[in-house]
Amino acid sequence: MNIQQNISLKPFNTFGLEASAQYFVEVNTVEELKDILQNPDFKNLDKLFLGGGSNLLLTKNYEGLVIKIALKGVEKVFEDENTVYIKAGAGEIWHHFVMYCVENNYAGIENLSLIPGTVGAAPMQNIGAYGVEIKDVFQELQALNLETLEIETFSLAACQFGYRESIFKHSLKGKYVTTSVTFHLNKIATFKTAYGDIQKTLAEMNVTALSIKAISDAVISIRRSKLPDPAEIGNSGSFFKNPEIPLGQYKTLIESFPTLPSYPINETTVKVPAGWLIEQAGWKGFRDGQIGVHARQALVLVNYGGGNGNEIKKLAEKVQQSVLDKFGIKLSPEVNYI
Ligand code: EPU
Repeated sequence: MNIQQNISLKPFNTFGLEASAQYFVEVNTVEELKDILQNPDFKNLDKLFLGGGSNLLLTKNYEGLVIKIALKGVEKVFEDENTVYIKAGAGEIWHHFVMYCVENNYAGIENLSLIPGTVGAAPMQNIGAYGVEIKDVFQELQALNLETLEIETFSLAACQFGYRESIFKHSLKGKYVTTSVTFHLNKIATFKTAYGDIQKTLAEMNVTALSIKAISDAVISIRRSKLPDPAEIGNSGSFFKNPEIPLGQYKTLIESFPTLPSYPINETTVKVPAGWLIEQAGWKGFRDGQIGVHARQALVLVNYGGGNGNEIKKLAEKVQQSVLDKFGIKLSPEVNYI
């Protein structure tokens, strides 16, 4: 293992923020991961486990050991008439895994095409897009218990998935690192085209017969048209979660803001799009030096290059305050501040 010192984390976070790691190592096997965790030289240091760095806001240099999870491998573990069970290493690039499934006609995650990040990071916040969440295809995951250094298996129920939530962001935060995830995918597809612009995009693409590939292509096209490519403009996708508000508050709000979009969650709660709130608060396309709010999707904060994490943090606070002032709604960040 190559343990590096004082290296730049810029290539390892999609915001493209400059921050250094005191120590940095990439692990390719579970054994390497265990070895580094047992190494007495690093035992008492803080540790940061890194996937694709796509949900990360680095506000300072990292004093401690950054461990990049590069555990690879995709294998079919079981199949029956309708379902195929595929296990993927935590370090596999999520989109590559989606493409593997699309090419093999395994249905279920085509709506999750082009989401940045790795397979191992995906369950942490139950990634979702265009009407599908990872929990819909999740079978189980394996994770290393950082105290006992034993591998444990987590079922769907054990992960306690919610909207951009799992047990790993709450009671088990910092206690486990995911090493692999197993998904159940369908041999016979049920297409999910109801969300947003999927149907419109399929029509524009002249798709007459639906297929896994066509849905994936449509999602990729929508994402490319709305979301900045981190390779060109630093960002970490949606910066905030879409807030869930009480029905009573929603009813009061639509009297003043009749075009406020909404998605019912249950009989008492409604989800409203943070992007809409931020746009209405006047932030869409805002730019201050090297940072700003994306011009086509107000939920995405961007680093045009050379911006720093604290500037983005301050901008996020201003956005939160103005949405609170205008709508009485508190936005919670989806990204993790380090
Ligand atoms: N909207 C605006 N102005 C904006 C942005 C959005 O008015 O600047 C409105 C849209 O017109 C639409 C609604 O807000 O009525 C929802 O917008 P969109 O469909 O673009 O999705 P979103 O709610 O902003 C969520 C996820 C995305 C995911 C898309 C598609 C969250 C926090 N974000 O965004 O996930 O790709 O839906 O399913 O739930 C991510 O988590 O990083 C991410 C990109």
